[in-house]
Amino acid sequence: MKHDFVIIAVDGGAASGKSSTSRLVAERLNLMHVDTGSHYRAVTYALMLDGVPSTDENAVAERLQTLPLDTVVEGGSARIALGGGIPTAEQLRSEAVNNAVSLYAAVPAVRQFLFDYQRFQAELARVNGFAGLIMEGRDIGSVIFPDATLRVFLEADSATRAQRRAAEGENDAIEARDKIDSSRKTAPLTCPEGAFRIDNSSLSLDQVVDLIESRVKNCE
Ligand code: DC
Repeated sequence: MKHDFVIIAVDGGAASGKSSTSRLVAERLNLMHVDTGSHYRAVTYALMLDGVPSTDENAVAERLQTLPLDTVVEGGSARIALGGGIPTAEQLRSEAVNNAVSLYAAVPAVRQFLFDYQRFQAELARVNGFAGLIMEGRDIGSVIFPDATLRVFLEADSATRAQRRAAEGENDAIEARDKIDSSRKTAPLTCPEGAFRIDNSSLSLDQVVDLIESRVKNCE
């Protein structure tokens, strides 16, 4: 690889294949993997548990001031810890969180709260000896790492995305979430200019990962 330390930003809508793709790229290139959707899910879970509604931005901002944030690096992934514990998959992917996460993610105070934390993941990847970082989300190439080595935008047709969610046994209103995520004022889901756009509807996971790997190896 031409770079000492690479940063790959992967953005796309719900069920666009970001996680499986990012995990496999991370494994092949020894990158630390970070799923920022889990950050928004963890904050949503914590705020809902405390009864703080997404509509009360002042209350959200106030609660976030006292919410301790930490990271646990396990295997090739960095996971968010809030208030000392890593939230479980059941907590992060519950129907209540699925339904509310886009609303909390649209609150500027929530995005501000996670901005420095997410930028700092690059330092964590360095000190943990990884060759770089791969971060997935909705605004990684546009807001968090506009200076990334490579920015990827993944998409798939709606039938493929619905099939993927059903196969995961999830009852997730992906169209509704995408609509809120794409139309919010702060950091909406969008394909960043100059990003490598891949429609993976009829590609295998390995084919998508091969495309990304060869592109990043040729990045100046
Ligand atoms: O990737 P996911 O489906 O787990 O993401 C959950 C929600 O978090 C999604 O509806 C939008 C929000 N999100 C965001 O606004 N910005 C990111 N960088 C990542 C996720």
